[in-house]
Amino acid sequence: MNTSVKKIGVLTSGGDAPGMNAAIRAITRSALAKGIKVVGIKRGYQGLIEGDFTELGYTSVSRIINRGGTVLYSARCDEFRYAEGIKKAVDMCRKNGIDGIVAIGGDGTFRGAADMSAMGIPCIGVPGTIDNDIGISEYTIGFDTAVNCVIDMVDRLRDTMESHQRCSVVEVMGRNAGYIALYSAISTGATAVAIPEVEYKYENILSKIKESQEAGKTHFIVIVAEGIGNSDEIAANIERDTGIITRATVLGHVQRGGSPTADDRVNATKIGHYAVELIANGYSNKVCGIQKGQLVNFDVQEALKIKKPFPMDLYNVFLETSK
Ligand code: F6P
Repeated sequence: MNTSVKKIGVLTSGGDAPGMNAAIRAITRSALAKGIKVVGIKRGYQGLIEGDFTELGYTSVSRIINRGGTVLYSARCDEFRYAEGIKKAVDMCRKNGIDGIVAIGGDGTFRGAADMSAMGIPCIGVPGTIDNDIGISEYTIGFDTAVNCVIDMVDRLRDTMESHQRCSVVEVMGRNAGYIALYSAISTGATAVAIPEVEYKYENILSKIKESQEAGKTHFIVIVAEGIGNSDEIAANIERDTGIITRATVLGHVQRGGSPTADDRVNATKIGHYAVELIANGYSNKVCGIQKGQLVNFDVQEALKIKKPFPMDLYNVFLETSK
């Protein structure tokens, strides 16, 4: 172990995700077990620049594993995009004896981690985003909880759609990624799904609904990823072309909240623990993840270049099994 690491900081940045608290807890407890002190940095890189710190002990992370959101708060920090902001953050680390940082978030968070690492503050990135769009990891903290939230909401929508024999267009999150949409479409038995990874054609949705209608269905669920665009317009078009009363529902930020699932708690704990192993052993400028169930790490620059292959086989399974 590289004993020169005496104190680390932990921060959450970008969009929050259920399971971030489980990661903060694991990072804190794993570091303390190695005799490394831990500082919680509030509001991501913004709090780092401002020195908004709180010391974390064993009990300060008690009873947070079950909580959604992030107890350290999160922010998107414009100042940190510029050299001056990064220098302020590095100076703040030096002033406070912070030897390294574990940063939980998405690609933007990892870019920040690379900048800090280049300036001599070792940083390790942990993938936390409901979008599941981190290239080097098959899993990201929060994705499983978000999908389960969508399932719960769509199951409720289905009750009322079935009673009234209507169609429901449900817009789900995933800025440029269709993982939440595809997984929730499969899990809820939706009729159609529109994802950014597949060229959007309204006619495809329409023909799926007609096919289902011919097969005897009287209510329909259409899941649309937010990147596709206007779910109100899609709903209006469906109603116009089929005569089926159609309602659009944008689930929005409700998908980012809630108590994390077992998967998110366990995986966040595993990756958080691994990130501390890396930083304690002198690694820097890394993003951790899970591939084929195994913990992996990549240099940030490499990690940012790797595009995650979208599971088109699963999309095809959806097409063949949905009605
Ligand atoms: O990256 C996570 C995410 O929830 C995306 O799915 C969504 O597009 C975005 O964040 C929303 O960001 P904000 O909370 O800043 O509106």
